[in-house]
Amino acid sequence: MGILEVKNVGKRFGGLQALSDINLSITQGTVHAIIGPNGAGKSTLLNCLVGKLIPDTGSVSFEGKSVLGRKPHEINQMGISRVFQTPEIFGDLSVMENMMIPCLAKRDGAFSLQAYHALLSDREIVDRAEHMLEDMNMADKRNMHAAAMSRGDKRRLEIGMCLAQEPRLLLLDEPTAGMARADTNNTIDLLKQIKDSRPITIAIIEHDMHVVFSLAEWITVLAQGTPLVEDTPDKIKGHPKVREAYLGESAEH
Ligand SMILES: Nc1ncnc2c1ncn2[C@@H]1O[C@H](COP(=O)(O)OP(=O)(O)OP(=O)(O)O)[C@@H](O)[C@H]1O
Ligand SMILES: [Mg+2]
Repeated sequence: MGILEVKNVGKRFGGLQALSDINLSITQGTVHAIIGPNGAGKSTLLNCLVGKLIPDTGSVSFEGKSVLGRKPHEINQMGISRVFQTPEIFGDLSVMENMMIPCLAKRDGAFSLQAYHALLSDREIVDRAEHMLEDMNMADKRNMHAAAMSRGDKRRLEIGMCLAQEPRLLLLDEPTAGMARADTNNTIDLLKQIKDSRPITIAIIEHDMHVVFSLAEWITVLAQGTPLVEDTPDKIKGHPKVREAYLGESAEH
């Protein structure tokens, strides 16, 4: 059984069947990519895994426990962290202050504004956040305004903020979207380093096939809300059904 099991999941938005009868198993310790054309249902599926959306049908379980009906922060505490399509950092805060927030959430199980004001003098949280920034190669940016950073650095910070919660499953929705090639390559290296340095499972939604083929050990192709094919990267490369699903979107750009 996989660390995450999705069984017969369906989700409808009004007249649109965004997901139908999705079955997916993510194997512990692997990097599993979910690819597919725009509108295939990739983000909808991810949102169903983290409590942002409730599927109409089916079940989702993590380490044998159902995630359905749980709030996003509860799912987070179960051991799943996620990076959404748009970076979610606090632009008004410094890089260090951003990093202290998940460190506090991990230790105390919750985050409140009151606790946040006490953070700045909380040695344990400061040390932990500094350690995480060093781990992310961002120690030199600790006092920078988070909003002033490049897209690549914002992503790096956001991924670090997820890791500060020590997840066993990290979900990434297009982590390299809108990035310059150099930032994309840095993100690939960062994810490889994360994978090699801790016991973690990674599920990544991605359009950039360079990223997919650099990282993934298993690939599921979604098209029109349903899995079209799943296989190893070697088998997926050049698969006729995959090219058909992408209809004009290059599978090797
Ligand atoms: N909250 C919503 N309300 C109505 N329709 C939605 C909602 N969220 C997504 N959809 C629709 O569901 C379908 C799947 O959307 P989704 O965002 O999951 O696709 P995606 O595969 O992530 O696409 P992209 O690659 O562009 O990010 C699309 O047709 C989208 O317009
Ligand atoms: Mg999406």
